[in-house]
Amino acid sequence: MKTTVVYYSRFGTTRTVAAALAEELGAEVREIRAMRECGFMGMGFRSVFGIRMPIRPMNLDFTGVDRIVLCAPIWAGKPANPARTFLQEAKLDGVKLAVLFATGGGETGASVEAIRKLVAGKRVEVTFLGAIVTRKKDEAQLRAEAKEPVRKLHNQEGE
Ligand SMILES: Cc1cc2nc3c(=O)[nH]c(=O)nc-3n(C[C@H](O)[C@H](O)[C@H](O)COP(=O)(O)O)c2cc1C
Repeated sequence: MKTTVVYYSRFGTTRTVAAALAEELGAEVREIRAMRECGFMGMGFRSVFGIRMPIRPMNLDFTGVDRIVLCAPIWAGKPANPARTFLQEAKLDGVKLAVLFATGGGETGASVEAIRKLVAGKRVEVTFLGAIVTRKKDEAQLRAEAKEPVRKLHNQEGE
């Protein structure tokens, strides 16, 4: 199964997790980058009000890719806006989408719903790998936390 890990990260924790995941899976990695980053208040505001954050040009074609593992931080209860823009713009038809959140320990229910809405109507099979609480964790701890989602992904392959 050809897997691509796609991530957005503002402060680096999601990047660390995504890199560890990709290494374990032997997967290609693509980074979502915001056209313009903003400060803490701006991020929260944009997230709450669903204000679109444009992303930099990236390869949005997943022809030949069976599965995307999307790693995204949660901002104010919702997936970080650049990850939402990615889901709107990417050619996802026919892929399996596995989503992993990086969080400060808050609720993920609204983020799960937001992702479901974003891919509704597309031919995408979405699953959720849970959340990694990144607060006060160093790089080694974050990398270790990636083991559980990798296990879940391997289980999916066996199904
Ligand atoms: C603006 C903003 C809002 C956040 N809101 C939440 C939240 O609602 N719930 C939560 O669990 N974590 C929240 N966090 C924490 C991030 O999801 C967490 O620190 C994540 O690991 C950041 O990823 P990054 O280091 O890749 O940018 C928020 C962080 C920021 C910057």
